[in-house]
Amino acid sequence: SVNLKGRSFLTLMDFTPQEIRYMLDLAHDLKAKKRAGIYNYLLKGKNIVLLFEKTSTRTRCAFEVAALEEGAHVTFLDSGSSQMGKKESLEDTAKVLGRFYDGIEYRGYKQEVVEDLAKYAGVPVWNGLTDVDHPTQILADLLTIEEHIAKPLNKVKVVFAGDIRNNMSYAWMFGCAKMGMHFVAFGPKELQEQLDKDTLKRVQEVADYTGATIEISDSIEAVKGADVIYTDIWASMGEEAQIPERVKLLTPYKVTMDLIKATENNDVIFMHCLPSFHDFETKMAKEQMALGFDIREVTDEVFRSRHSVVFDEAENRMHTIKAVIVATIA
Ligand code: CP
Ligand code: NVA
Repeated sequence: SVNLKGRSFLTLMDFTPQEIRYMLDLAHDLKAKKRAGIYNYLLKGKNIVLLFEKTSTRTRCAFEVAALEEGAHVTFLDSGSSQMGKKESLEDTAKVLGRFYDGIEYRGYKQEVVEDLAKYAGVPVWNGLTDVDHPTQILADLLTIEEHIAKPLNKVKVVFAGDIRNNMSYAWMFGCAKMGMHFVAFGPKELQEQLDKDTLKRVQEVADYTGATIEISDSIEAVKGADVIYTDIWASMGEEAQIPERVKLLTPYKVTMDLIKATENNDVIFMHCLPSFHDFETKMAKEQMALGFDIREVTDEVFRSRHSVVFDEAENRMHTIKAVIVATIA
């Protein structure tokens, strides 16, 4: 029997496959209850705080709605409006917030920061994205896969195309290794070489134990048989200076209908953590286009096709984050 009370949620690498299964089952259950209009206020009387050093739409709103629906109160702090990181150290901030709150969400840069918060706060800390991980996103993605693909996770093949050295790619390696899945990081040699060797070794050790397959490839052959084609923007938050180089490297890995066809799976689903530059509707995409950089990591055709489940996936951020909060502090 699984009990996650008091645990921090920093990376899926800290959890057993059984514990991840438990959080997914809880999320399926909480989603069904919400659909049926049943609320059990599992977090009544709890207070949580959300710390954001990078911007967010889904993660922030998912934490707020999840907490409020279960009866908890929420404080939102961004780096511009609190003492954190400027006048007060992380250690002191964590100790103070731990006295007020039952749980702390943190989005920022270094993974060590979220680890340090957990070390000093004395209450569960949840990782809302770092430079090397995005574990709540993977829970939402796994839930979405279970809703759309009639196979157990350990029979599912996920191909991540594009910036294979970013937080989402690592997060996927961790999730797939733990759940015994087949993962392909489909991207250029130049980025393959930037992958952290020690992390790959840790992932492979988990894969050896669960039966997962973790592949890194720049061959279109590796896409064949995919159940999921996943991509993310080519330059993550804080990496905007790298756009010219990334556009050059990653244009061949853009998710197009040809890539979808290369899976030879008529029922393949397209997933994306979002936000996405699938068209030129955003200020940033327009600015980059004016400079000569087409930053679209997926075509609008694929994004809007019958393969795309991106908005189900976005909704599932809320149900899975609710499961994480309930599992760790209710
Ligand atoms: N997918 C995701 O984390 O979105 P936000 O940056 O909007 O939170
Ligand atoms: N890789 C992206 C994910 C956003 C949810 C970033 O870090 O900006």
